[in-house]
Amino acid sequence: MITLGNHTWRRGEIAPYLQESERVIRPANFSAHAPGRGLAFVSAPDGADVAVINLQGALFLDTQIHPFEIAEQVVDDARRRTPVIVVDIHAEATSEKVALARMLDGNVTAVIGTHTHVQTNDARVQPGGTAAITDAGMTGPHDSVIGVQAGHAIRRMRTGMPIRFEVAEGDVRIEGVLIECGTDGRATSCETVRVSVA
Ligand SMILES: [Fe+2]
Repeated sequence: MITLGNHTWRRGEIAPYLQESERVIRPANFSAHAPGRGLAFVSAPDGADVAVINLQGALFLDTQIHPFEIAEQVVDDARRRTPVIVVDIHAEATSEKVALARMLDGNVTAVIGTHTHVQTNDARVQPGGTAAITDAGMTGPHDSVIGVQAGHAIRRMRTGMPIRFEVAEGDVRIEGVLIECGTDGRATSCETVRVSVA
């Protein structure tokens, strides 16, 4: 599954694809009139159904529907089919991501933060059995400013002018989080993954 976020409509041509895709989802709290969906299901290797929910934060982002307004409804929809539910909260603010993880504790398998590109040191399993991390990190070149050639990012910030960004190349890493759970959907472990590939 691939989840999206604030760059979903950067290339509008994706709209018909999102409308059809069962593997690429956009935040569930975008307009209901927009193409695509924010909940989809995938089969694990052992045959278990896994629900994946994509949400976007409201703080410092242009988000149409507040995530706390609809998160429980989307989780209820997922739970009708499976107790194994992974939530991607694509958001800026640590407070918002921690609060969502607490709100959904015991109702989903994991709440994984994304968007800031910097892996946080708070991978945990909460008391109710929901794994959580504020940000899973970035798979990409870490010799950069969140993936972009540092000189370009610095020049744009220094001048305020539109500078064309290019992807950096050095210190490529795979980052993420590895979560184990039982058939009841309760997480038993949550560990960060950090692998250098170049
Ligand atoms: Fe983002």
